[in-house]
Amino acid sequence: MRHLIDSVDLTTAEVDVIINRALDIINNKEMYSEACHGKKLATLFYEPSTRTRLSFTAAMMELGGNVLGFSDAKSSSVSKGETVADTIRVVSSFADIIAMRHYKEGSPRVASEFSRIPIINAGDGGHAHPTQTLTDLLTIRRELGHFDHLTIGLCGDLKYGRTVHSLIKAMKRYEGVHFVLISPKELRLPDYMKHELGDNYSEYATIEEAMPLLDVLYMTRVQQERFDDPAEYERLKDAFILDTEKMALGKPDMIVLHPLPRVNEITVDVDKDPRAAYFRQVENGKYVRMALIYTLLSWHDQEPSHKVDTFITDQICNNDRCIVTTEPVEKKAYTDADGVLRCYYCDHAL
Ligand code: CP
Repeated sequence: MRHLIDSVDLTTAEVDVIINRALDIINNKEMYSEACHGKKLATLFYEPSTRTRLSFTAAMMELGGNVLGFSDAKSSSVSKGETVADTIRVVSSFADIIAMRHYKEGSPRVASEFSRIPIINAGDGGHAHPTQTLTDLLTIRRELGHFDHLTIGLCGDLKYGRTVHSLIKAMKRYEGVHFVLISPKELRLPDYMKHELGDNYSEYATIEEAMPLLDVLYMTRVQQERFDDPAEYERLKDAFILDTEKMALGKPDMIVLHPLPRVNEITVDVDKDPRAAYFRQVENGKYVRMALIYTLLSWHDQEPSHKVDTFITDQICNNDRCIVTTEPVEKKAYTDADGVLRCYYCDHAL
């Protein structure tokens, strides 16, 4: 059984399998219309979503399968205090595969430890969003044809933007990829993520300076729901806005991506620019999730390709958004390549 909790749970060869299957689905939709006949996907969404939940639902329907689940934890027994672990044990009896979104970082990892069926992380707090990354990769492949030697600008909320964190982990594995970070200093990429980048990044204070360098500009929303202080959100929310004047500074063959939803960080007149690929990106999300569901259901006897050596620790994770602060799970840690002790669930340094 294989889960998808983090984007590095898939090797680059396995990413290729999923991307190529998504391309095959796009070209041969009718061939896959009964591919998951008789199978059930449970969508457990503890946090709001439009694209991810509906694209998972559409994906399973187009594979001939069925969907059950909840889109609001308040309508489930979570509101009575049921843990993630118990919910997952129960849902494992009703479905064949689970897509789960949770506001607590590391929740899908906890779920995978109690599940008898594959768990897909559909976004956990500010931590990771690996199926958005597969969507981004399929879009880059369809728009630009390759992953190597790209300069990727990441703009906006790099602190809480889980899509950015997962994309970095996936893209840094390709040759010659350089990242350009553009954010207010309060929303800079966390240290544990900068550590992932080694020397392969530079930081710019404005979109205008970075724009001429970029093959991909990945815009993100400032994540209002992750701020403790509303005044801080108000101060930062308009820090970086992409408009047609800034687009004029970009290469003719660059693309603009955005995981969406957009608030105001891309003005609507940019939508008309053929380089604005974010609505094409949304459609790719359905096809890549079809490919992922189909592939994970067929990998039932395959060992995970990415294993982390963990050990039990009595050190409490000091990330107050981590699942270990609310769920009674064993505290687990691992040591990264630089000898830093990290929480197994949310990757923060202990
Ligand atoms: N990109 C994304 O995760 O969108 P939703 O929050 O609408 O699912």
